[in-house]
Order: sequence, then structure tokens, then C-alpha cells
Amino acid sequence: MQQSVNIRKRLCEQHLQILSGICRAVGEKDQYTQAHGYRVSLYAMRLARRLGCSPEEVRNVGIGGLFHDVGKLALSDRIFTNRETHLPSDLEQEVRCHPLIGAALLKDIDFLKPVVDFVLFHHEQEDGNGYPFGLRAGEIPPGAKIVSIADCFDAVTTDRPYQKGQSAATAYQILREGCRRFFCEEYVETFIEEIEENGIIQDTCLDPLLADELVRSAAGFSAR
Ligand SMILES: [Fe+2]
Repeated sequence: MQQSVNIRKRLCEQHLQILSGICRAVGEKDQYTQAHGYRVSLYAMRLARRLGCSPEEVRNVGIGGLFHDVGKLALSDRIFTNRETHLPSDLEQEVRCHPLIGAALLKDIDFLKPVVDFVLFHHEQEDGNGYPFGLRAGEIPPGAKIVSIADCFDAVTTDRPYQKGQSAATAYQILREGCRRFFCEEYVETFIEEIEENGIIQDTCLDPLLADELVRSAAGFSAR
């Protein structure tokens, strides 16, 4: 029994090292993408809690948020140095592969299986016009819908190389206008309530141990 616990712990440590390495590599490639992952994770967990999800669901959504763009690791550097609002169509096509690449990176790690779909489907839309599969509202897992709202809110409210961060009010408007086309209306309203009550995340709130804590807890071991 103790031996199997030790083996599981060792496996967890190895997986954690791999994932921490992936996270660091994402940061080396593009610091914005790394910090964005932390914030999306925290926003997604806040929304999941407010929607009444179980602690396990909240944690899985947190991991999905943290790694949602991990597939960008494989994308061309030209995408990250682009300063235009719109990418040329060849790069746009390349970006559309990142959910598939991210899911492929995570799918063989047993305890991360429940989060793979959140990574894979975070760019699907309620109206079926998202990517990579064009799933419709009822086919998209709730965790992916949660990550997608957190992703949009953070992308709008933070400075990016090609645009200045906008106010929370502007982000609410964008989310509300996207209801039913892009986002689940009920989740959007719950998210706005949460931000109004508990505020926007500041960069200084980033916790470098978030990945360790979430991944260890998913594997059945507490981090601290
Ligand atoms: Fe993404």
C-alpha cells in the first residue's frame, strides 16, 4: 500500500516537473501567455465556485485555465512578435491549432484527463462557429465555457503587444454582446457579479506556486 502511494507520488513529481518545464517554456516564449494562464486559472475558479461547482470541478477548471494556451508553445515566433490587431491568414490558421496541440500535450497524463477537454474546447462558441470542431452550445463542456469567459475577460482587460488593456466595464459589454453567439449567458452574468463583488486580478496577485498546488492536488497530494 505504502509502496503504491510512493510510486504515485514519484509519478506525480515527474509529471509536475514536466508541466512546470512546459509552463517555464511558455514563459520563455511569451511572458504574456504565461501570466495570462495564471489569471485565467484564478478567474475560472472564481466563476466555477460561484456557479456551485464541486471542489474537484473547481480545481479541474483551474488547471484547464492555467494550461489553456499551452499549445501556443509550438507556434511560430512571428505570432508573438506581431503588433497588428489581426494576424495574416497563414498565422491565423496556425493559431487555430493551439487547442489541439495543448490537448495532445496533456492527454496522456492520467490525473489530467478531466481537464483535456477544457483545453481542447476553449475556443468553441455557443453558435457553433468556434474552433477546432465547431461544437454547439450543448456539446461544449461547462468547464470549457468557463475558461472561455475568463480568457476573454483577461485578454480585454490587460495590456497586450498590439492593444492597451481596457476597463472592466468595456469587458462586460463585450461579454454581454457575445452572449448566445460566443458565450453562455448565465455564466457571463455570474462572472460579472463575481468581478463586481470581488474585483479584477492585479498582476501582483500572481502565485508562482499555483501550478504546483493545482497539479499536486489533482494527483491526490497536497502541496502545502
Ligand atoms: Fe487560446
